[in-house]
Amino acid sequence: MDLGIRGRTAIVCASSQGLGLACARALAEAGVSLVVNGRNAALLEQAAADIRRATGVDVQSVLADVSTAEGQAALLAACPSPDILINNNGGPPFRDFRELDRQDMLAGVTMNMVTPIELIQQVIDGMAARGFGRIVNITSISVKMPLAGLDLSSAARAGLTAFVAGVARKFADKSITINNLLPGSFDTQRLRGGFAAASKRTGKPESAMAAQAMAEIPAKRFGTPAEFGQTCAFICSVHAAYMTGQNILLDGGAYPAAF
Ligand SMILES: NC(=O)c1ccc[n+]([C@@H]2O[C@H](COP(=O)([O-])OP(=O)(O)OC[C@H]3O[C@@H](n4cnc5c(N)ncnc54)[C@H](OP(=O)(O)O)[C@@H]3O)[C@@H](O)[C@H]2O)c1
Repeated sequence: MDLGIRGRTAIVCASSQGLGLACARALAEAGVSLVVNGRNAALLEQAAADIRRATGVDVQSVLADVSTAEGQAALLAACPSPDILINNNGGPPFRDFRELDRQDMLAGVTMNMVTPIELIQQVIDGMAARGFGRIVNITSISVKMPLAGLDLSSAARAGLTAFVAGVARKFADKSITINNLLPGSFDTQRLRGGFAAASKRTGKPESAMAAQAMAEIPAKRFGTPAEFGQTCAFICSVHAAYMTGQNILLDGGAYPAAF
């Protein structure tokens, strides 16, 4: 399917590996020029080179922490007028909520709520003036159902979700869509890191923890980053122009509800 976005430009935050990288890759396959981003130089350059080689699109890499004002300025300096913004970031570590102090909580809210809102603030008027915009926030299934040890992450992402619900409607007549993609369990470093931590806690092997998690998913497997990225690219396509303000679960059926 031609997504109709060839020649467009995108900033994909936190995209040197995992879900962000998969979104960048799928957009590049659709002919979108990219800014990719991360804090580890070697990983970032590798990701940028791989996408360039595979797709031939223009890829700039911005080595920066997206949660900081300087990081955001660097992203926007590389691509001042993006047509597409993919908001992604790391997430707070698994932790019992009683261990979180005020600083931890503010950092979590900054990462997963304030940072994406700040970036939206900086790009949305330009998108409106040019008459096209696609904003996708990578959030989590935990916005809809609690995940033990991820309370801070869930709350910050739920805050973002509520915030953009109004913004999406305000800009719906400007050919801008804002949607949230909610990953369940995707096979990335972050997911595997969770099993490693759980293995240390319980003494069970990582493979057993992973197998148990898979068994609880109706699809009986983890998602692949590539399928996540392709869904993101579709949401950024011309075909998805009438979809805005939505929370799209990609979870192999893990969220157990009809609606
Ligand atoms: N995988 C899942 O199943 C799943 C499920 C629910 C929610 N999520 C959420 O989805 C997001 C992506 O997850 P993932 O699984 O793709 O994680 P991942 O494999 O750990 O990749 C995270 C990416 O973000 C970059 N990054 C992290 N913090 C950054 C920062 N402050 N500034 C710039 N880049 C940063 C990392 O590079 P550097 O570390 O080098 O900066 C890396 O490229 C996370 O917020 C995660 O909590 C994932």
